[in-house]
Amino acid sequence: MKEDILSLQDLRSDQILALLDHASSLKNQFTTVGANSKYLNGKILGMIFQKPSTRTRISFETAMLQLGGHAINLSFSDLQLSRGESVEDTARTISLYVDMIMARVYDHKDIEKLSEYSTIPVINGLSDLFHPCQILADLLTIHEYKKKLKGINLAFIGDGNNVCNDLLLGCSKLGMNIRVSTPIGFEPMDWVVDIARTSSRKNESTLLITSDPTEAVIDADVIVTDTHISIGKETELDSREKIFFPKYQVNDDLIKYAKKDFIFLHCLPAKRGKEVTSQIIDGPHSAIWSEAENRLHVQKALLIKILGD
Ligand code: CP
Ligand code: NVA
Repeated sequence: MKEDILSLQDLRSDQILALLDHASSLKNQFTTVGANSKYLNGKILGMIFQKPSTRTRISFETAMLQLGGHAINLSFSDLQLSRGESVEDTARTISLYVDMIMARVYDHKDIEKLSEYSTIPVINGLSDLFHPCQILADLLTIHEYKKKLKGINLAFIGDGNNVCNDLLLGCSKLGMNIRVSTPIGFEPMDWVVDIARTSSRKNESTLLITSDPTEAVIDADVIVTDTHISIGKETELDSREKIFFPKYQVNDDLIKYAKKDFIFLHCLPAKRGKEVTSQIIDGPHSAIWSEAENRLHVQKALLIKILGD
């Protein structure tokens, strides 16, 4: 059966831990023995981008090249999709040429359709609902800094968006304690919270959804935020700024409640001075550049897991 990763719900906890372990060893290996390998010799990844991307596009393409494969960038406007060809027929067609699809879409239903109608594996490179590759990189970064995942206190402050949803799924699977603070009306989806709560109970960890950011960051080992205006929400800019700012900003006042050695994560791109101040993002607690680099390493591990011999 083909292996699709549409959210972290598609990976068991032991599979996530194995991926992180492999990503660490690949990171080490590529630093010490150079960039070329034959893990994915001749394999081709088709990358569909309905939305802009810096990190996802470059890290996936670089990963394929460094593993001996190839990536084709299929921007939405270059595909017949932009002229109304259906997602179903696009999926059937692309499956005839390449070995795997990574897609970034507006509507999560589109990636579900790609998955259903393609005969090759599909990875979600971000949809309105989930961002699994990002959270794998976040987990690797947390493990590098904190040397463990189970029992870590993670606070997510801001919009209950795609990043927040997959953080809930990933952290609860691994026995991490997660507190999410969003304005009322911007919470993560109920059904995701329900799944995460069940996982948390099973793994003896805690999960809290609160509108009070201070309550969320008390004793945090990790503070995570993301833009308040995700791609596709630009028309809500003014109304969202009034709701989120300044209460849901990660700044010097808020971090006082976290542990002294907490780390700060942000998937990027960041709106400095909005969801986070420059003092925090450039400050001593920030691990954002390790986090961004780790996209490359976890995706290599994921590509090898799915495409490798
Ligand atoms: N974090 C992330 O997915 O970045 P891009 O939007 O630049 O790919
Ligand atoms: N939540 C953001 C993440 C960007 C990587 C968005 O969807 O735009």
